[in-house]
Amino acid sequence: MNIAIDGPAGAGKSTIARKLAEKMGLIYVDTGAMYRAMALYMLRQGIDASDEAQISSACDAANVSICYQDGSQQVLLNEENVSADIRQEEVGNMASSISVYPNVRQKLVALQQKLAKDADVVMDGRDIGTCVLPDAEVKIYLTASVETRAMRRYEELQKKGAPCNLEAIMQDIKERDDRDMHREASPLVQAKDATLVDSSDLSIAQVTEAIWEICRKKG
Ligand code: DC
Repeated sequence: MNIAIDGPAGAGKSTIARKLAEKMGLIYVDTGAMYRAMALYMLRQGIDASDEAQISSACDAANVSICYQDGSQQVLLNEENVSADIRQEEVGNMASSISVYPNVRQKLVALQQKLAKDADVVMDGRDIGTCVLPDAEVKIYLTASVETRAMRRYEELQKKGAPCNLEAIMQDIKERDDRDMHREASPLVQAKDATLVDSSDLSIAQVTEAIWEICRKKG
């Protein structure tokens, strides 16, 4: 059984997908982390996000792979574990920018499809139900209002003691949504056969329960 969870940044996809995978004994695959690893490579090379030709050819030298340590996904970039480095805000924005290029997508989609072929997965991203796993048994479109997503991110950064500004976070989220939803290649849209779950007024436990129930009904 494969479960696809798509949705905008900050909707809670990774938290929910991880919990669901644990509960169902499936492998969790965070595809955003792969785009982030590719983005980190481009940042390190000093390549500009708008330079499609250079990004497309640099893709060949960026070998992204994943492995699991104590059940948690680790992302490797040319054999280096970059799981912590890819969480920076700058890397997330670069990932959103370079994910518009077909060459980047082709390479990572092939890796994602291979992973789902080799194991039963809960995979989260932007195009899993529409493009990567069109035959997934369960498809969820998980969303939340921009205000809720910005507040969650703000609280997360505050907890870490990182400097943050709610207005700036909200602006960032709106720009990322706009780019992810309006790009030409595999934009973020709800698959026709996906179930919409709005997590704005729900706790993590309630969302997990709702999706668990959807999976249960699908057998
Ligand atoms: O989920 P995330 O924030 O880690 O993803 C970072 C960016 O990667 C996101 O803004 C768009 C891109 N992405 C994508 O285009 N397709 C996916 N399946 C996953 C992520």
